[in-house]
Amino acid sequence: MPSTQKTLLAIDYKRGSLRILNQLLLPFATVYEDCNTVQLGFDAIRSMKTRGAPAIAIVAALSLAVELSHKQGTFGSAAEAAKFLTESLVHLRQSRPTAVNLFEAANRLDGVIARAAAASGATAASVSNAYLAEAEAMLERDVSDNKAIGRCGADFILAANPGKQVRVLTHCNTGSLATAGWGTALGIIRDLHARDVLEQAFCTETRPYNQGGRLTAYELVFEGIPSTLVTDSMVSALLREKNISAIVVGADRVTANGDTANKIGTYQLAIAAKYHGVPFIVAAPSTSIDLSLASGNLIPIEQRPGIEVAQIRGQVVEDEGNLKEHESEEDIITTTVHIAAKGINVWNPSFDVTPAELISAIATEKGIIVKAPGAKEFDVKSFLSK
Ligand code: MRU
Repeated sequence: MPSTQKTLLAIDYKRGSLRILNQLLLPFATVYEDCNTVQLGFDAIRSMKTRGAPAIAIVAALSLAVELSHKQGTFGSAAEAAKFLTESLVHLRQSRPTAVNLFEAANRLDGVIARAAAASGATAASVSNAYLAEAEAMLERDVSDNKAIGRCGADFILAANPGKQVRVLTHCNTGSLATAGWGTALGIIRDLHARDVLEQAFCTETRPYNQGGRLTAYELVFEGIPSTLVTDSMVSALLREKNISAIVVGADRVTANGDTANKIGTYQLAIAAKYHGVPFIVAAPSTSIDLSLASGNLIPIEQRPGIEVAQIRGQVVEDEGNLKEHESEEDIITTTVHIAAKGINVWNPSFDVTPAELISAIATEKGIIVKAPGAKEFDVKSFLSK
C-alpha cells in the first residue's frame, strides 16, 4: 500500500508473505510491493527496487521461501521439493553478479537442501522446513552481525581519536535499506552517534543511482544524525578542508587478499584518502568475503544500462528550490529527465575494486582485520580461521 509514512524497513517478512520497500521511489514515496514469488524476487533485485549486498541475498532467499510456503503440499517427494528449490536458486543467482552474498547464501541453502533430502525418512515437508528455517534465520543473523560490525568499526576509529568528536564520510547506501536492518558502514556511523562522539557524518551523492543522496541521506535525516550531503566530485576538497577522521564504506565482495568491490566511486575515495592520510575502512559481514578469489581483478563487475547515467529520476518541485512535505502519495510527482546529450556513448560499471593497499582495516562481525606490519595486503583467510 503506497504511503508517505517514512520507514527504514526494507524487508517486511512473515511466513507466507514478503513485502519489499521499492527503493526506486525513495525518498519521495514509501511504497511496499508484494514479493511472493521467485520471479518477483529476481525482478526486484535486477531492477534495484531491492539493493545492497546483504538485502539482495535475503530477498532472494525469502522470495523463494514464500513461493515454497504457497506450494507446500504440491510436492510428491523430498526429491521433487529439492529439485524445485535448487532450480529456483540457479535462477536467482542470475539476478546480479557482483555481490557475493547472494552466491554465498545460495550455496549454503543448496547444502541445507541436499542434506535434508539425503536424510533418512526425508519427505517434501522435511526438506521444505529445513529450507524455511535457514532462509528465515538470515534475517535475524544479519541485524546482529551488523551491530557487531558497527561496534568494531567505531572502536577502530575511536582508538585513533581518543576523547575526540569524529567526522566520518561514507559512500553509497549501506544502512537499514541495504540490509535486514541497522547497516554495515552506516552501522558504524549509527554506533558513533549512539556513543555521542559523532560530530558530523558526510555522505556522497553516489552517482549514477544516487544511493547516497536518496537513501543514505534519507536514513541520516530519519535518525536525526548530524549530516551533510556532498557530490562525488567534492570528496578531495572535503578531505582537505573538513578534518575528516575516517571514510567508511561497505563491500559487495572482499577477496582473500582484502581487495574490495564496492559501489562505483569507492576506489577514487580510497585514493583521495591515502593522499590526505585519512583512514579508509571497509565494513563487511563475513558473507561478503569470497576466499575463492585471490584478488580483486577476478571479481565480476556488473555493467548497468547507460540510460541510468543519461537520465535522472527526481521529485517535481512546484516552488523553486523547495521540497514540500506531502500529505498523500497523490501529491508526490516523480519524473525522469534526460540530462545527457542524446547519442553520447555511456560506460556504466556499477562497482569498482579498491586494492587492499589503499584499505586501512576491514570491520567484520568477527572483529577487525588489519595487515601484518609492512604488508600491503590482508590475510583474510588466516583471520577467519582463528
Ligand atoms: O548497486 P547497489 O546499490 O546494490 O550497491 C550497493 C553497494 O555497493 C553497497 O555499498 C554494498 O552492497 C554494501 S551494502 C551493506
